[in-house]
Amino acid sequence: MAKLSILLYPDPRLHTVAAPVAQVNDEIRQLIKDMAQAMYAAPGVGLAATQVDRHLRIIVVDTSPAHDNLLAFINPELVQTSGDAELEEGCLSVPGIYEKLKRAQKIRVRALNAEGEPFEHEAEGLQAVCIQHEMDHLDGKVFVEKLSRLKQTRILAKLKKRERESE
Ligand code: NI
Repeated sequence: MAKLSILLYPDPRLHTVAAPVAQVNDEIRQLIKDMAQAMYAAPGVGLAATQVDRHLRIIVVDTSPAHDNLLAFINPELVQTSGDAELEEGCLSVPGIYEKLKRAQKIRVRALNAEGEPFEHEAEGLQAVCIQHEMDHLDGKVFVEKLSRLKQTRILAKLKKRERESE
């Protein structure tokens, strides 16, 4: 199993728009396994292929308290959204930064599973927010970029300071 490393913001590769998966094959299934392993090891509740520098439309999510409910979505699309949620979000690509963002409270996602079969999934609350967060990565968007300019400047300064301190 390949050990995947996670790109850190502001790495410009995080702005890559991921391509749809044309065929769900063993290589894709292996990538999903490796992504799940990287997510659990971090530890985190979601990971997009973009974050491991593989620019395909794949996300993995597990917001269950026991970390035993892995969901994988290939070529995910939001088909329905409702309500408002505002939860504190974090990101494995932006360690140590937590900010609230406005998202839909309830969503319906259409995607392919690891067998290449289409399915629909309904989520709400934390899981819904997590799926929306990961789907943004596939469009090259990191959550902090949805914050005000001032907040983004502060976050970048904080990350730079931390980088200097670790050198
Ligand atoms: Ni993220």
